[in-house]
This record gives sequence, C-alpha cells and structure tokens, in this order.
Amino acid sequence: MPNVITDFINKPLLPFNSEGVDFLWEVTSKDTDLIKTRCGGEEFFIQVKSRTPKFIIKGEKLSRPSQVIFLQRTLMEYAKKAECNILFQNALPSSNRTEIKNPIIKEIDFFAQNFIFDKELFLEIGFGSGRHLLYQAKNNPDKLLIGIEIHRPSIEQSAKQCDIMGLKNVILINYDSRILMEFLRSNSVSKIFIHFPVPWDKKPHRRVISPYFTDEALRVLKIGGTLELRTDSEEYCKYALDIFMQNPQTDIRILKNFNLEINSKYEDRWKRLKKNIYDITLTNTKLSSDNSALSRLHFDFLNNIDKIRQNFTPKLFRGGNFFVHFEEMYAGYNRVVIKAAFGAYDRAEHMFIVAEEDKISYFPNGAYATAANKAAHEVIKKWLNG
Ligand SMILES: C[S@@+](CC[C@H](N)C(=O)[O-])C[C@H]1O[C@@H](n2cnc3c(N)ncnc32)[C@H](O)[C@@H]1O
Repeated sequence: MPNVITDFINKPLLPFNSEGVDFLWEVTSKDTDLIKTRCGGEEFFIQVKSRTPKFIIKGEKLSRPSQVIFLQRTLMEYAKKAECNILFQNALPSSNRTEIKNPIIKEIDFFAQNFIFDKELFLEIGFGSGRHLLYQAKNNPDKLLIGIEIHRPSIEQSAKQCDIMGLKNVILINYDSRILMEFLRSNSVSKIFIHFPVPWDKKPHRRVISPYFTDEALRVLKIGGTLELRTDSEEYCKYALDIFMQNPQTDIRILKNFNLEINSKYEDRWKRLKKNIYDITLTNTKLSSDNSALSRLHFDFLNNIDKIRQNFTPKLFRGGNFFVHFEEMYAGYNRVVIKAAFGAYDRAEHMFIVAEEDKISYFPNGAYATAANKAAHEVIKKWLNG
C-alpha cells in the first residue's frame, strides 16, 4: 500500500484542488484524520496518522480506488500541499498511464442489474487456478461461465488466461459466493461447480456450503440443474450430505474415486497423496418463485449529527442472523463518519456511514439489500435516530 512518511506537516485547509486531485473535506478521530478525496473520477479516503514524531499519509482500505495510480497521485499531491518533509515514500507513480480494466472482470453492480443472460449459465465457485473453469469454457462455447473467487490474484491470473486462450464466454467476479447467490435469478443456472472447497474443519461457519447457501443454490438452479461438489475431505462430504438431506425431497448422487476429464491443481496434489475423492451431485427438482433485483440500501431521513457526535461509543448489536458493530467515529465541522461492520456474521460488510446535515449515506458504496443487510440496516436507522 503506497504511503508517505514525514516529520513535518502543515495541514492545508480544505477544500482545495491540486493538479486535478480534489481534497473535499476531513473528519478526525484521536490521532487520525480521514480526508475525502476525488481522483480519476473516483472518491475515496486517505488518512493522515500522527505517530509522534512522524506522520504517515496513506490510503484507507475500505474505500480503495480501483487503480493504485489514483491513490499515489493523491498522496503525493497532499504531501506537496502540506509542505511535508518526506522521509520515505513509495507513492511516486512510475508512469501516468492508467490501467485498462479487463472487461472479463465484473463488479457486483453488474450482477445487481438482474440480467437475463442469452446463454446457458455455468457457475464455478472458488475456481482457484482456473484450470477447470477454463476447460469448461473452452469445451462449452455456447455456455457462459461465471467464475466467483474471493482471491483477487486468482481472478487476475484467470482473466489473463482467458485473453490468451481467446475465450469470450467467461466472466469473473471477486466476491464471496455466499452473498453472490442472492443476486442471481431464480431457476437461471444449469450447473454450479464447487471443487475442493476449503474444508474449514476448525471453523465450519466459514464453509461455502451451509443450509442457507444450499437453499439459495437450489433456488438459482434450473429444474434438472446440478450443484456438483468435489472434495477430498470425507468430513466435508458427510457434512454437505447431511445438509442436502435436510430437504423434504432431494435428488442426490454420490461417487467415490471417479475421474473427471480435467484435474484441478488441488486434485493433482490430493491424488499424489493417494487421497479419496468424493463427488456429490445435487439436482434441483423444484421451480422457485421469481426474485427481484437487489437494490442498494439507503437512508430516507435526516439525522441529528450533534446527538451522534456527543453520544457515540463503540457498540455491538447481535441479531439472529445478523449483527451491527459501530466501531469508531470521526467527527468534523458539519458531519460525522462512523466506521461500521454489519450484515451476516460470516460475511460482513465493512463501510462508513457518513452523516451530514442534509443527508446520510453509506460510503464507499451503499450495501445491497441482502437478507442480513436489510435486518442490520433497520438497526442502524433506529440507532441513528437515537
Ligand atoms: C482449496 S481451493 C480450490 C481451488 C480450485 N477449485 C481447485 O480445485 O484447484 C479453494 C478456493 O476457494 C476460494 N474460496 C474460499 N471461500 C470462498 C467463497 N466464500 N467464495 C468464493 N471463493 C471462495 C479460495 O480463495 C480458493 O481459491
């Protein structure tokens, strides 16, 4: 993460613009200033942290811009305007070129549009090195392969591979598959592959497969569509089977030590270790009702900033399937910014709530109205209204 370390800073008055970078406003908490900035058409925060006798100027993780060059330019412009005596920096852009985003990689807003795709859909969850995903794409040019991964480098690596192989029927998203399911249309997917998911033996709540996920998977699958779990973990296999069996009517097939046409990277490793490999195929037999597109949550009332400013203490609310954690407050002249985590326990949203005199909003993006987020949002609204 680029940053600048200085032993002198003359904090400039905001707002100002320097070389095309806007510095809009600031709020403060203990030893940290949070500065709202705009560069390359994107708004994000930078931070100035006081670590006597030094100051660190750096990006803020939750609101990171899409390109590192925007952050680098912003940090250097701020350091210049604040007359910093720079002791260290790794924020000098190596060139002025902005990266061109690979169109294969989509953001969550793309899925929120609730498209009807013109191709049959195959989904792969946690595709890792992408070997199986690319194989499926190459051999099924009439299908659209949607790859979902939480590991960003895997996304970038597979996107490059798609370009090299000339594959036009793949889209990738860097997102938690457990949330992404809520964005997909009912009865729209033909296959869901989950190959060698992390077994999380000690933290089963982090597993991809859960009763809720299974209900969602069955909802998005077409009638006759399949969820194909492949694992080397007997425990995970039994765990998934147990969940799949909870449905009053269910169509399940189990195989042990059968080969697929392509081995994934993990599979190669487990086969070398002579481990057993289990496949469970769950077939959907039911038509589900239509789901509507997920909108972003918003606030529709004015708040009392002074009351929040005076009464704020960090607080944790626990609901049945959701929580809200108000972590920290930053205060400014006519606004307060609260850093919060909320939503489902194992897949929380982390963002800021910006309360200004005439409006209140989530930043950097509004949270989408998933079931857990909606419940959390109600608590947030009540708490803000005091
Ligand atoms: C053990 S690796 C298996 C990778 C690949 N399927 C293979 O067989 O080689 C599990 C993959 O799942 C990804 N993953 C874990 N949890 C996930 C989630 N909730 N949503 C999407 N991907 C996830 C991890 O980043 C990792 O790449």
